[in-house]
Amino acid sequence: MDIRPYEPQDEERKSDLDLHVTVRPGVRICRRYTHLDAHARMYGRCHTFVAEHEGRIVGVISAAIKDVRLAGQSTRAGYLFGLRVAPQARRHGVASALHARAEQATKDDGAAATYAIVMADNASVMPLTSKFALAQTDRVETLVAPVARQRSDRTNVRTEHLPEAIAQRIDPFFEKHDLFVRGSERYPAAGQFVLHCAERGSSSAAVTVSSHSAAFQDLVEFVPACLRPLRCFWDTIRPLVTLPHIPVRGRTVSTRWIGEPVLDGPEAMGLLHEVFRHIHNKAVEEGVHWLMMPIRSSDPRRQLIRDAFSAGRLARLLRADSTVPSLLLFKPFVRGCTVNPERLYLDTRDF
Ligand SMILES: CC(C)(COP(=O)(O)OP(=O)(O)OC[C@H]1O[C@@H](n2cnc3c(N)ncnc32)[C@H](O)[C@@H]1OP(=O)(O)O)[C@@H](O)C(=O)NCCC(=O)NCCS
Repeated sequence: MDIRPYEPQDEERKSDLDLHVTVRPGVRICRRYTHLDAHARMYGRCHTFVAEHEGRIVGVISAAIKDVRLAGQSTRAGYLFGLRVAPQARRHGVASALHARAEQATKDDGAAATYAIVMADNASVMPLTSKFALAQTDRVETLVAPVARQRSDRTNVRTEHLPEAIAQRIDPFFEKHDLFVRGSERYPAAGQFVLHCAERGSSSAAVTVSSHSAAFQDLVEFVPACLRPLRCFWDTIRPLVTLPHIPVRGRTVSTRWIGEPVLDGPEAMGLLHEVFRHIHNKAVEEGVHWLMMPIRSSDPRRQLIRDAFSAGRLARLLRADSTVPSLLLFKPFVRGCTVNPERLYLDTRDF
């Protein structure tokens, strides 16, 4: 087995390197990457390594290099992601070899630490993370809300597309947060980032919305049988009532990723409700099915943000909103390099 940097020709010889994940109770999707290094293109500096065995590409991993803040210092960190090994090549040390190579690449680039995000229920990856001494630092929940038309906005929600302008708006709120990357490099063109913002008096609420469609597509593999008859009824009454989409087996689900809200002033939470309503309505127009928002489990505003993010009372009643729990794992290479879970920034590119 050979572990080496990715080359575009590897696309022709790749094995099954899709990811199969459960995103909502009973709903399974297959995440199909447009290229082996497609997600890596979201980052200014990134390495992708592949494992080659008998002429086939049987494994892949990427490592992004980020200039971040950690323990109050400007530091370089490596983010390891996109590890997949073809089913027939598993349990032969391929992932271990890929991980070791990617970790070394981050060290060679001057990283003082690496981190990774894994789904909390992914038992197959946990032995690997302990083998490489990645320690759990925080739990992260990705809130999943099905898109549903909302009553029309009362507030004027402004939209900003320029990465520099988005960074200018967001940076002052997070620049002291751990793992925060300053500036417009956080908003690459591939992610199609936009900022939606509402203001009233001295209060404001703003969030970024982005797309991962340049990196991967989510194909619905399985939907619980009980939802299928419901869908026909649903589709008939949808023009009359606000109802969330029910995924259809064999079709892709289109998603948008919402960044951590920036809230300021006494009316910020009310404004956030209006920004989310606006995002739901825009998503309906664009044919988007689900909104996804990572949030720290320890965030004291979690329940309030969750309520604002939800598609509405009916969706809550039908349990159409859900969460995907994951773990943030961290490994320092130098003494004293730590992450403070209370001041942790979640970069939507990392999900
Ligand atoms: C997780 C995954 C990458 C592991 O790849 P792999 O090449 O089989 O891993 P390795 O052979 O290097 O094994 C690493 C360690 O994990 C253990 N391990 C691997 N798969 C396991 C499983 N299904 N259950 C329990 N332990 C497992 C191995 O025994 C090994 O420990 P050891 O060296 O102490 O014996 C692979 O199963 C996979 O691609 N899964 C689907 C994608 C995924 O979940 N990626 C992780 C996203 S964060």
